[in-house]
Amino acid sequence: MWNRHGRLCKGVARSYMIVLCCEIQAEMGIPLVFAVCLITCFVAVLSYPSGLVTDSCFTMLPSHRNNVQQSGTVPFNITVSRNTFYPGDVITVTINAVGSEFKGFLLQARTLGSNRIVGTFTLTNSRSRILSCNTTDSTVSHINNYLKASITANWTAPTGLGPIRFRATVLKDYYTFWYGVDSEIITSLQISSETCGIDKFCLTNPANCNPTDTSCFFMSSVGYSGGYAFEMSGPSTGYLATGFSDDNQMGNDDVYICAQNSSGSILIQHAFNTGKTQPTILAKNTAANIMTRYVNGILQCSFTAQSNISTTYSALTRASTNPTYYIFLATGASDTNGQIQKHTKSPLISDSKVDLSSFTIASSHSGASSVILGHGALMLIAWMTTGSIGMLMARYMKNVAEKPLLGKAIWYQAHVFLMILTVILTIIAFIMAFAKVAGWSYTSGAHPVLGCIVMILSFFQPIFALFRPDPKSKRRFIFNWGHLLNAIVIKILAVATIFLGFKLIDSTTTLWLSKVMGGFFAWEILFYILFEVNKHLKLKNIYETDEKKTERLLLGAFVCGNLAFLIALLVGIGSS
Ligand code: HEM
Ligand SMILES: *[C@@H]1O[C@H](CO)[C@@H](O)[C@H](O)[C@H]1NC(C)=O
Repeated sequence: MWNRHGRLCKGVARSYMIVLCCEIQAEMGIPLVFAVCLITCFVAVLSYPSGLVTDSCFTMLPSHRNNVQQSGTVPFNITVSRNTFYPGDVITVTINAVGSEFKGFLLQARTLGSNRIVGTFTLTNSRSRILSCNTTDSTVSHINNYLKASITANWTAPTGLGPIRFRATVLKDYYTFWYGVDSEIITSLQISSETCGIDKFCLTNPANCNPTDTSCFFMSSVGYSGGYAFEMSGPSTGYLATGFSDDNQMGNDDVYICAQNSSGSILIQHAFNTGKTQPTILAKNTAANIMTRYVNGILQCSFTAQSNISTTYSALTRASTNPTYYIFLATGASDTNGQIQKHTKSPLISDSKVDLSSFTIASSHSGASSVILGHGALMLIAWMTTGSIGMLMARYMKNVAEKPLLGKAIWYQAHVFLMILTVILTIIAFIMAFAKVAGWSYTSGAHPVLGCIVMILSFFQPIFALFRPDPKSKRRFIFNWGHLLNAIVIKILAVATIFLGFKLIDSTTTLWLSKVMGGFFAWEILFYILFEVNKHLKLKNIYETDEKKTERLLLGAFVCGNLAFLIALLVGIGSS
């Protein structure tokens, strides 16, 4: 008799070996059994390095060598009273025998992916016991070896969890057992950042924000044997979309969309970004275990997808191409059917490629990076302010600011200073753009092409000026014309490039950056006309009043308006 119990003692998971020994002792009341059992257990524990108790809790494997793990149809299943939960909710879990009854079992709740033992159990009957495997009251087990047709226990959900499932090892007898008997996936109704880095990969903006914050954009991912579990949350009336890409550009990205249609239904779509246009919705959508919500302006979706990530567009094969991806999180409006429109903000992009199955927290940046925004700001200052004023000085202020300063006329000194500043700003901005983009980005269209021409032409402008002939020389007119013509070409190209640049970074719904830029250029044109008319009138001697005053007035007005436009645009760029 005690021999059989001795076998039982070794046959169950090491974690609750001692508990069982004590139980047998209590049941049988025979000190001999207790002694033998204790010795067996002691030897068993001693013969394994420390930490094994926890290991066994984790593997849920009985250690007895004679035990045979069974394959084929599992004659047991796990049913649950509900398949969704909020923190604090209680779920009644039942292990049912389908066919043969069972003698022993070990039941736990496990997170998907990280496979952590979570939550606490309470008993509903006297046929089972609660064990503290890894964490307090996290495991349920049998109390005796009588045959059971079913067993139930109540599980209480802790806070911060994502999806879980119940997992059991069920022993038909001491030689036959099944492990990894899983319930269906239990969906968490709460999207939380609490377990980011522990149970899931997360990307948030602002960094480490909580999905309950009204301005928090959030996505998380868990890779598990069946696919992925995703969560998205953020302030949006339209959609949230997360994309997986081989590069940090939109195009050839696997996309999951959480979009609200006009009747308030929230739909989960699987799509593919073929380019920088509306993504193609894929026919095969494996989203399951869906939770959607739109409360207080915050849109939320959580779901599992039994699908590989694929950055190659094919409806038939979705082979996993890479283990790591750049992650995008985009938001914008959706139309009445839930079809998504272009993002209203620059999408978030993870700073590096990440493994969706890792338990990490990614840092991210806006699709328009700060380096690119800095590049834009410098180019704007260079070509709309210092360059503009510098050119006006040379063209219209010659007779006004003619007093010498450090040996040369003020207008000349101002022109040289402002134009060299312009070229220096351009060079810095140019380096910033290329450092960031690291190569040619064909997706940016004509902007970089024009930008390079501007850079080359403006680089040579001061160098040629350095080798200009003497003012009295016969060939001086060549320089005068060349210098003017080059200046006009640079100015026009620079303005065009800035417009195209704004189109790349303007994430405002009204596109007000581009519109204000239009006003900025119009303001400059207006003053060229005024200056030109003034010059013309003066040449014709139409008026001879204090002409210097007119130019000073015009220049003053121009500079004031110019700075106002510049500041408005810099603020706009800064908040992009
Ligand atoms: C109707 C839908 C969409 C349209 C028309 C669209 C169009 C564009 C365009 C034209 C750009 C270039 C920059 C700009 O003009 O703002 C861009 C950038 C970007 N898009 Fe989209 N997009 C759409 C949806 C999405 C979705 C669903 C994602 C991913 C979840 C995404 C991710 C990105 C990213 C990360 C960028 C910045 C990097 C880059 O410039 O490539 N887009 N998009
Ligand atoms: C929104 O989606 C729901 C669920 O798919 C659908 O029943 C409803 O007709 C949709 N509404 C519109 C306006 O498309």
